[in-house]
Amino acid sequence: MERTLIIIKPDAVQRGLVGDIIARFERRGLRIAAMKLIHIDEELASQHYAVHKGKPFYAPLIRYITSSPVVVMVLDGSRAIEVVRRTMGSTNPVEATPGTIRADYGLEIGRNLVHGSDGPETAAAEIALYFSESEVLPYKRAIDDWIAE
Ligand code: RTP
Ligand code: MG
Repeated sequence: MERTLIIIKPDAVQRGLVGDIIARFERRGLRIAAMKLIHIDEELASQHYAVHKGKPFYAPLIRYITSSPVVVMVLDGSRAIEVVRRTMGSTNPVEATPGTIRADYGLEIGRNLVHGSDGPETAAAEIALYFSESEVLPYKRAIDDWIAE
């Protein structure tokens, strides 16, 4: 089982797409291990997007992610990191495959609705940024044996 951090970004919250986006992840069989609504401040945004500091899109990216509340979640499941990235689609909605979240709801790279961790190390670091270990709940679901062998 793998864990990943998802952010349902300000545009998705403002557009009323939270339920639909969560439903897509739930339907795949991913388990919600943690979830909350927060308003990301500049400090947290700069930690989350530290790798992009100095790039031309950094300032608008920080403005975007701090502009309004977001839903942050930890999802887990078999190969959860890759499954979530493929469910979201390419970073630029123009290039995203139809059927993915970014293709179905997005037009521009700067309003691409969702974030998902891009590897095991970043997932662990990002989860620790938003949740304490006690907030990530290890419960079992009755359906788990019908989702994973
Ligand atoms: P994310 O981190 O949000 O899941 O997205 P990602 O891995 O697919 O893309 P990443 O390269 O990490 O970029 C982070 C976010 O920055 C914005 N961005 N804008 N204008 C641009 O060229 C540009 N490039 C990236 C996007 O909001 C992207 O999700
Ligand atoms: Mg990224």
